[in-house]
Amino acid sequence: MLPFQPLLHAAVFALTVLQALASNTFIAAVYEHAVILPDTADEPVSPDDALALMNSNMDVLEGAIKEAAQQGAHIIVTPEDGIYGWRFTRETIYPYLEDIPDPAVNWIPCTDPTRFAPAPVQERLSCMARNNSIYVVANIGDKKPCNSSDPSCPEDGRYQYNTDVVFDPEGKLVARYHKYNLFIPETQFNYPKEPEAITFETPFGKFGVFTCFDILFHEPAVVLVSELQVDTVLFPTAWMNVLPFLTAVEFHSAWAMGMGVNFLAANTHHTSVSMTGSGIYAPDGARAYYYNMKTEDGRLLVAELDSHPRLSATFPPAVNWSSYALSVERFSPNDNDFGGLVFHDWFTFTELAKPEGNRTVCQKDLCCHLSYKMAEKREDEVYVLGAFDGLHVVEGQYYLQICTLLKCKSTDPETCGQPVETAQTKFEMFSLSGTFGTNYVFPEVLYSGVQLAPGEFKVLRDGRLKSKHGTSKPLITATLFGRLYEKDLPHPLRTSPSRDSAVTQSP
Ligand SMILES: *[C@@H]1O[C@H](CO)[C@@H](O)[C@H](O)[C@H]1NC(C)=O
Ligand SMILES: *[C@@H]1O[C@H](CO)[C@@H](O)[C@H](O)[C@H]1NC(C)=O
Ligand SMILES: *[C@@H]1O[C@H](CO)[C@@H](O)[C@H](O)[C@H]1NC(C)=O
Ligand SMILES: *[C@@H]1O[C@H](CO)[C@@H](O)[C@H](O)[C@H]1NC(C)=O
Repeated sequence: MLPFQPLLHAAVFALTVLQALASNTFIAAVYEHAVILPDTADEPVSPDDALALMNSNMDVLEGAIKEAAQQGAHIIVTPEDGIYGWRFTRETIYPYLEDIPDPAVNWIPCTDPTRFAPAPVQERLSCMARNNSIYVVANIGDKKPCNSSDPSCPEDGRYQYNTDVVFDPEGKLVARYHKYNLFIPETQFNYPKEPEAITFETPFGKFGVFTCFDILFHEPAVVLVSELQVDTVLFPTAWMNVLPFLTAVEFHSAWAMGMGVNFLAANTHHTSVSMTGSGIYAPDGARAYYYNMKTEDGRLLVAELDSHPRLSATFPPAVNWSSYALSVERFSPNDNDFGGLVFHDWFTFTELAKPEGNRTVCQKDLCCHLSYKMAEKREDEVYVLGAFDGLHVVEGQYYLQICTLLKCKSTDPETCGQPVETAQTKFEMFSLSGTFGTNYVFPEVLYSGVQLAPGEFKVLRDGRLKSKHGTSKPLITATLFGRLYEKDLPHPLRTSPSRDSAVTQSP
């Protein structure tokens, strides 16, 4: 036996351990939860009643967490408002809030529940993580007392924040994120003064967290991915679907692809306000997703993901979103263009009157090109190519550039842009591109029945969104959803209601 062999053994052993610790893949879970809502009351309930409601929701979440752990999941995301629901004023949410400390305090609520003020919700979440050896991501409410020494302290002497928390498999609080882009009706909460970019490291990659409406804006969502280079985003949401471009599964999977990041989206389930749609998304497509407007069931999704998607062989190449579109001339004249509203935005459309062809439509700085071939040109369905370049101003204000291949609601061109859930036309081929003035373009492909098309399309380096072998199901839309963040209004104006108060629904 050679004398150095024990050393070699030790080295090999250490390497094996290191490799096991730094895993190449991990198992992710998200839970779509049919939240048990509080009664709508004008007066605040007692702290005991508030805790009872939160415990009834946590009973359901605990079942999902146990099941996820049994299936080998390393992390589980639960939805925004998943523990107490919504329908609150500033006063009526107060009994549901806990003071959530900065994770720097190094706290395991499960083993040290009395270290700070009573925090039964954090204690229970921490124990669920610890008992099941799994990272648990949840959304709860934080309260922070303030006084006149702070000129922006609210009159009632406290800040109230919509907050995501993450507990590690030992039950330690490792992340706390205060939602920055509150959605319009969230008057029960305050805006944090500055955006927080919250990340944490795990043996299976670097994680970032943000909430619901945040996904439409630059801070903190884009900062986490582009600057802080997280591998996976954790995304609790209470997302109301808006066809044709802002359905949860459609937009969230498109964001994962456009940004080149894993994305774990857990939605609440409440069909009367179109809340459904959760998923486990990789940069090259959905690994698992759930969309169900028929029943009121929750659903656990579990799927494997690459820990470091940027290092994976399937990672999509960097895209120049305008390269192809700038390199070609107009495909068609603009003789037959017409206008129409899509979720309050005035698009320019051109009808796809033939079974196949090459079309161009332009609005302001954006020209959209489409080459297509339908399997069959039906008499009872109309498709258009549309372009929009402008500031969206309803339910939030944000600057968009959009190219879309879209099915109209009926054969009347006046209905183009209205929500459509089903279609009958399959495409043998489509290739969509646009002269985008941004690097932030999210590619969406939605099939009949609000279904995704993982693996059936790709984005080329030159910015073309192309079907690979035709669509296996009829198409509702193929869209390039571009965001020009630098043309947005300042925060928090951009999240406010606008001059148009005819509000429908949105995230
Ligand atoms: C965790 O486990 C302990 C001991 O096994 C048990 O008393 C407690 O109720 C469990 N808590 C949760 C939240 O699962
Ligand atoms: C006001 O708040 C500050 C910071 O939260 C605290 O240090 C101070 O003691 C408070 N003052 C009073 C009078 O409560
Ligand atoms: C993208 O392609 C266009 C046209 O080829 C070129 O003008 C532009 O500089 C490219 N953009 C980037 C960021 O490389
Ligand atoms: C569309 O353009 C492609 C290439 O630019 C050409 O091969 C094809 O024939 C055109 N299709 C129609 C229907 O004009």
